[in-house]
Amino acid sequence: MVRGSSAVNRRAVHKLRQLGISTVGSVKIKILLCCCITLTLLVLAGPASSFMGWTNHGNSSDRLSSLRGRYAIVMNTWKRYDLLKQSISHYVSCPRLDSIHIVWSEPELPSKSLKSFLNHIVQSNSGNGHQVELKFDINMEDSLNNRFKEIKDLKTDAVFSIDDDVIFPCSSVELAFSVWQSAPDTMVGFVPRMHWVDESKGKDHYIYGGWWSVWWTGTYSMVLSKAAFFHKKYLNLYTNEMPASIREYITSNRNCEDIAMSFLIANATGAPPIWVKGKIFEIGSTGISSLGSHSERRTQCINRFVTEFGRVPLVPTSVKAVDSRSVWFW
Ligand SMILES: *[C@@H]1O[C@H](CO)[C@@H](O)[C@H](O)[C@H]1NC(C)=O
Repeated sequence: MVRGSSAVNRRAVHKLRQLGISTVGSVKIKILLCCCITLTLLVLAGPASSFMGWTNHGNSSDRLSSLRGRYAIVMNTWKRYDLLKQSISHYVSCPRLDSIHIVWSEPELPSKSLKSFLNHIVQSNSGNGHQVELKFDINMEDSLNNRFKEIKDLKTDAVFSIDDDVIFPCSSVELAFSVWQSAPDTMVGFVPRMHWVDESKGKDHYIYGGWWSVWWTGTYSMVLSKAAFFHKKYLNLYTNEMPASIREYITSNRNCEDIAMSFLIANATGAPPIWVKGKIFEIGSTGISSLGSHSERRTQCINRFVTEFGRVPLVPTSVKAVDSRSVWFW
């Protein structure tokens, strides 16, 4: 299924050879050497870093109080109130969060008890000196496109799009937000995916590459909107500028709104997204991705969107952003 991966591997091995890392023995020696050097540096830098004023004074809560330094959560949810409560309870404690918008597409309006529960959580958790706002965005039609509708009174430029059944620690969200601030036109997220050329069907046919293919090759061209930052201008582009046929396809197939957003942003920027390392906790057990035939349907979406866009806007990359404080070995 993972075409091209063996070629990638061969290339990697070739590169290592070029770098002179040809035998396991020499790799081990180099690793040992690096360990020694790093340990020495750490011992030296420990006391020196505070002495020389290298400690991190910029506490994230006092760094920026303006809205440019904040983001809004847009959370997609569907009839799983316990997950919704759990997610909101968690994210409301994250610094630099400005507001939470719950995308509501159920035929019944949110119940009084759900509303008051969530309002209570949000109000009692206004830590970090900032009152987080909570809003329900009620939709009449049940469509996956709802999650990308424009939000009229959105104060921040940054949107953190998230599903109700995945939880990332605030430190991971903070890291992704910082990366987004450095590249605000780019989509920045935690869940990478790839489109591969399907050579068995000719070079204009593509297949969807799930997590395993990304893990194996380190290459990706999309990050999924179940957990990603992007600029709010893309909500307008998605809803008002993107061909309506794409949105209709998504509504009727109940799938692939995230792939369409990746196409849209790649088409606008000509650049790849950025994958950020983050700890993921999946609190719901069943999503559409655990249903059978999932990847065939995703493959169909990719090929459909390639036709709609008239080209493949997606750009592959192998860059991954990590918190350098958590990688001591480099
Ligand atoms: C892709 O980008 C081009 C150039 O910016 C634009 O003209 C076109 O409308 C975009 N296509 C879609 C489907 O959004």
